[in-house]
Amino acid sequence: MDPYKLNEDLKLGVATAATQIEGGDTNNSWYEWAQEKDHIIDGTTPLRANEHYKRYKEDIDLMKDLSIECYRFSIEWSRIEPEEGKFNLEAINHYIDEIKSLKEKNIEVLVTLHHFSNPLWFEEMGAFKSKKSIFFFTRYAMYVVQALKDYANEFITINEPNVYATNGYFFGIWPSGEKSFFSAVKVMKNLAKCHISSYNAIHKIIPNARVGFANHLAIFSPLREKSLYDKITCFLVAKFFQGALTDAMALGKFRFPFCFLSSKRGVYYDFIGINYYTRRAISGFNTTFFKNTAKNDLGWEIYPEGLGIIADEQYKKYKKEIYITENGTCDKEDAFRSKYIYDHLKEVSKRDFIKKYFYWTFMDNFEWAEGESAPFGIVKCDFPTQKRKIRKSGYFYKEIIDKKEVNCQMIDEFLK
Ligand code: BGC
Repeated sequence: MDPYKLNEDLKLGVATAATQIEGGDTNNSWYEWAQEKDHIIDGTTPLRANEHYKRYKEDIDLMKDLSIECYRFSIEWSRIEPEEGKFNLEAINHYIDEIKSLKEKNIEVLVTLHHFSNPLWFEEMGAFKSKKSIFFFTRYAMYVVQALKDYANEFITINEPNVYATNGYFFGIWPSGEKSFFSAVKVMKNLAKCHISSYNAIHKIIPNARVGFANHLAIFSPLREKSLYDKITCFLVAKFFQGALTDAMALGKFRFPFCFLSSKRGVYYDFIGINYYTRRAISGFNTTFFKNTAKNDLGWEIYPEGLGIIADEQYKKYKKEIYITENGTCDKEDAFRSKYIYDHLKEVSKRDFIKKYFYWTFMDNFEWAEGESAPFGIVKCDFPTQKRKIRKSGYFYKEIIDKKEVNCQMIDEFLK
């Protein structure tokens, strides 16, 4: 293992999402989804999570202990607008307070407006399957941005629209539970329109805001290298899952599978957000992982080169600064997380157009269908007692942030 230096102006931080950490809210689609048997592997719900809604001050202190420079977190829409058209001042004030506490500690914020969960009234009216979502989402986004405009100027409109749409409408393993290709396409199309409409609205409120979206971008490779069939399906899966949607969101280019003629073009991003985790092997229309490769505790391949490949592709195509808005791994014993961070940041160190990197995630949380059983955190959370403990990988990450390098001594201490 070699030492390396990171660019001095690279900001390093952590990312989280409201439903996964806050606890205490029963008015959202994920709480409701978790009530059904078998929806969540370990039977937990987001009601407890990390109790971060009330413990946010101590969590911010912990972030400071870790030298975190930037923090990506999300706003729970169901708290802000518990009933259609009724906005909750107390909830928005809570987030203002949270941002102020972060700023007091010199931690920059990147605010996500939508990260997988919906208010129940919105879910019941069909959520993003309905065209009305564009109006409702934009109105909510405007309310939040108007309230936060003196405290924040970087926003992500929608997190992983491709994962939201495919898991929730194609595979049916997340809310809404539907299994229809056409519904998934419709949802993606509306999400892209929601992004464009709120991108424009945010800029009207804060002209110099920096706004983007965070797509889940994976490397797709044909399982059987020489199979023409796998090559073709791999191309189609990549196009459907990420290429076409990124073009629709970033440029307003709605092409197949959304429609055949492109509509209004524009530039609807100020940076490109990449959530990168793994490489997937495609065989026919099935996705799997290559045998005999390093895997995390969920069986996902650990493929650090992929981060570099995707960042290069996105930069070449969209020509704006890149933020790695999520990158991390599930590792119960914290056995390979430090190495994961080392390898992925090494890719980042080679690219000065990557300006921010957010490790996913700050602490073990409610990991959607995996419930509390899949720890991604650099901080361990014991859910029943709510005790937080910085993991060894957390101390490693802190040293990287402090020194903006990985030196020989750190390699000896953390990676051997
Ligand atoms: C999501 C996170 C999630 C992480 C790990 C991403 O797809 O944005 O909410 O916890 O992956 O599965």
